[in-house]
Amino acid sequence: MSEPTALVALRGASYAYEDGPVVLDGLDFDVHEGRALALLGRNGSGKTTLMRLLSGGLRPDRGRLTVEGTPVTYDRTGLTRLRTTVQLVVQDPDDQLFAASVGQDVSFGPLNLGLPDAEVRARVDEALAALDITALADRPTHLLSYGQRKRTAIAGAVAMRPRVLILDEPTAGLDPDGQERLLATLDGLRASGTTVVMATHDVDLALRWADDAALLTPSGVRTGSAPAMLARTDLLRQAGLRLPWGIAAARLLRSHGLLTDPAAGPRTPDDLAALASAPGTEPLPADG
Ligand SMILES: Nc1ncnc2c1ncn2[C@@H]1O[C@H](COP(=O)(O)OP(=O)(O)OP(=O)(O)O)[C@@H](O)[C@H]1O
Ligand SMILES: [Mg+2]
Repeated sequence: MSEPTALVALRGASYAYEDGPVVLDGLDFDVHEGRALALLGRNGSGKTTLMRLLSGGLRPDRGRLTVEGTPVTYDRTGLTRLRTTVQLVVQDPDDQLFAASVGQDVSFGPLNLGLPDAEVRARVDEALAALDITALADRPTHLLSYGQRKRTAIAGAVAMRPRVLILDEPTAGLDPDGQERLLATLDGLRASGTTVVMATHDVDLALRWADDAALLTPSGVRTGSAPAMLARTDLLRQAGLRLPWGIAAARLLRSHGLLTDPAAGPRTPDDLAALASAPGTEPLPADG
């Protein structure tokens, strides 16, 4: 059976910034509908550049961007259509927020689509609720904390009801509770059909959250199921990443006969505790 057509894809895409190095060269990259995708790689490996190509903010020098197999045109109509399909949330919320208040900022995109007022209001209310910032609707954006600005930036993208939401390092700078709340929000969006792509340096988060992982290495991008990719020590090293603790823990558990299912390993400390307290589990022998 042939692979289903990717929702959004780059084919043979190359990109170099003016007077800059070639960042991506002949890249093929697929975003499949309904799959949570983590994008990982060293600083400067091209994650942000790739995300900007996927969302139409940058145009490939060679190659093409397609939505459901149809090449994107970079005129007004084509880019508007792309914006209703793909939304990018940039890493620094200060690069995204510009309106005076939270509510105004989140309503900007839907207003710009020319939607009726009632529809704009419904989308803004929904996005504020999804990001748990309804109470901040009238707050001036310049008075928000960093985590609140981050949530506002994400709400602005969510209000566009994109099919693909692309987030550039969304958990960076959030406290542990903020990270948990964001993951819960993303789970909610995924459950309602949004495809989510996230760039992150956090291998533990990627293992826990993603279905698939794409590693940007000097020899190109390698994509596969997250548990398989994040166990590839060779690729992780090339991508400047370490082994997720969940993979290391699964190896230890297997070597002690405490984990027999080849696929299942702990993804969170709670998973590990559940494994340890499962009926018939012997306590781990002491070291030495
Ligand atoms: N506006 C720009 N002009 C020139 N070069 C740029 C520009 N933006 C990025 N670059 C260069 O392109 C390369 C890829 O950068 P990019 O921001 O895509 O990497 P990244 O993987 O997102 O890194 P990080 O993990 O630090 O966010 C780097 O060498 C960077 O210096
Ligand atoms: Mg980046």
